Amino acid sequence: MRSMIPDYLAEALGEVAADTTGETAGYIPELATADPERLGAAFAMVDGEVYGAGDIDTAFTIQSISKPFVYALALSDRGFDQVLAKVGVEPSGEAFNEISLESGTGRPLNPMINAGAITTHSLAGPEGLQPAERVERITDGLSAFAGRRLKMDESVHASEMEHAHRNLAIAHMLGSYGVLTGDVRAVVDGYIRQCSLLVTARDLAIMAATLANRGVNPLSGERVVPEPVVRQVLSVMFSCGMYDAAGDWATQVGIPAKSGVAGGLIGALPGQIGIATFSPRLDSHGNSVRGVSLFERFSSDMGLHVM
Ligand code: DON
Repeated sequence: MRSMIPDYLAEALGEVAADTTGETAGYIPELATADPERLGAAFAMVDGEVYGAGDIDTAFTIQSISKPFVYALALSDRGFDQVLAKVGVEPSGEAFNEISLESGTGRPLNPMINAGAITTHSLAGPEGLQPAERVERITDGLSAFAGRRLKMDESVHASEMEHAHRNLAIAHMLGSYGVLTGDVRAVVDGYIRQCSLLVTARDLAIMAATLANRGVNPLSGERVVPEPVVRQVLSVMFSCGMYDAAGDWATQVGIPAKSGVAGGLIGALPGQIGIATFSPRLDSHGNSVRGVSLFERFSSDMGLHVM
């Protein structure tokens, strides 16, 4: 049965390959130059087997797919109470880069949108870390999810920093409410570094499989985060991972997921599988067009929908 997976994946890629709709992310100049034709998909099983087809070893920046993993690190490093006091768990129904703060408290609605992710970035590692140490903690943590040492794309980081007006504006709002403290520019710089970590579709499938495997990396055997943290992260991915397309995704695909503007997309089905796709052209929500089609297909072909 499993021996059929690579052919199945290759056939699925063939079916979506002709779809050239969508655009690469224009607001990060370095991403706009990505080869839009790249296309790959990988499955990582919770027993450690990995299958793939297409461009599964091409490196690209993780972008927003870092958010659930850094949320997991913040929850394990600081505990639920401290994190929930600063970041909520409600879907925003708005684009990923909207301000979306709770009225009165200024608490970001959830950790998957930029406002929440900038805040969870600041909560990774023990209290009192220097910005560079926090980036190190996050690089170590995400590397443990992937099972190999991840590197950073300095030119994507520099390119995004030059155009970071929205994220800086969000961070200053967070600072005005006291949700962020200290040097908010350094937090944005660190958050954009986190987004600039380089991964492949194979890495992302293993990272997703670590969530599906309840926090233990199925290849290395390392427990990366505790099980209750994984439950929290997957729940928030289910309700908020696809931003203002989360409802469509929940009904049509029905598995916890997260997208990134470099074209990556992950899904994790507890106890079973981590899935990743890579295709850089994005829809109006910032989700990969061909990635969404592939997941719709995987979900219906394999009965992955949790309902
Ligand atoms: O903060 C940003 O805008 C980017 N570094 C990440 C955004 C992103 O990946 C949104 N997801 N589709």
